[in-house]
Amino acid sequence: MNEHMTIISNRQIAKGIYELTLASSLVQRMHTPGQFVHVKVANVAPLLRRPLSLCDINHEAGECTIVYRAEGTGTTLLSQKQPGETLDVLGPLGNGFPLSALSSEQRALLVGGGIGVPPLYELAKQLVKNGVCVTIVLGFQTKDVVFYEERFASFGKTYVATADGSYGMKGFVTDVIEHHALSFDVLYACGPKPMLKALQQQFPHKELYLSLEERMGCGVGACFACVCRVPHSETAYKKVCSDGPVFRAGEVVL
Ligand code: FES
Repeated sequence: MNEHMTIISNRQIAKGIYELTLASSLVQRMHTPGQFVHVKVANVAPLLRRPLSLCDINHEAGECTIVYRAEGTGTTLLSQKQPGETLDVLGPLGNGFPLSALSSEQRALLVGGGIGVPPLYELAKQLVKNGVCVTIVLGFQTKDVVFYEERFASFGKTYVATADGSYGMKGFVTDVIEHHALSFDVLYACGPKPMLKALQQQFPHKELYLSLEERMGCGVGACFACVCRVPHSETAYKKVCSDGPVFRAGEVVL
């Protein structure tokens, strides 16, 4: 389903990190944290859409929020868009985080790295609503790019790490988890592959759901730009856009 969504706001919240709020009836179709939308940034080159994960879904206001990093031509163009302009948005797409993995009173550990942090916000919101106890670990490169720490803290104990030690604990998300001996029933994570891989190695026998960041073309399972291998097979594969982006640990080769 695609629709023209109106830009309500588009503002910088950290160095190179933007928060975009969009409104249209499409929001009523958005339910699952971890799903994404495919946004057409311009009608001239770059023609490709950009996959951007949903950060916050607000059915009452009819608005959704997306947090993205302006780095390539497409997202830089997006960062220049003004309130009142419209964007061609396709979605919601993909399979998000399974909430049914946990019941009330159980413990979830949410781990985000860099621009993988945003989808965990809607996830935290929905888990807390279900009575799940949530702990959050956020990893960033440096202090300048840290965002949403206070917003996450409203859902549960929130730890921040930076790779260069300029804010929070120095190191990686895995160091924070080890240092504080954080325990959980289910772990949900989104971030770069090395981070997901490290988590998978840290907890080989636990229930982990990992959201992959992959380059995408079509976003709907037609172009094979996003395939990843399945363990113990030379021929089997899964598509991040339509089978994922969230997979259970071990389902695909990282
Ligand atoms: Fe085209 Fe996944 S992006 S198949």
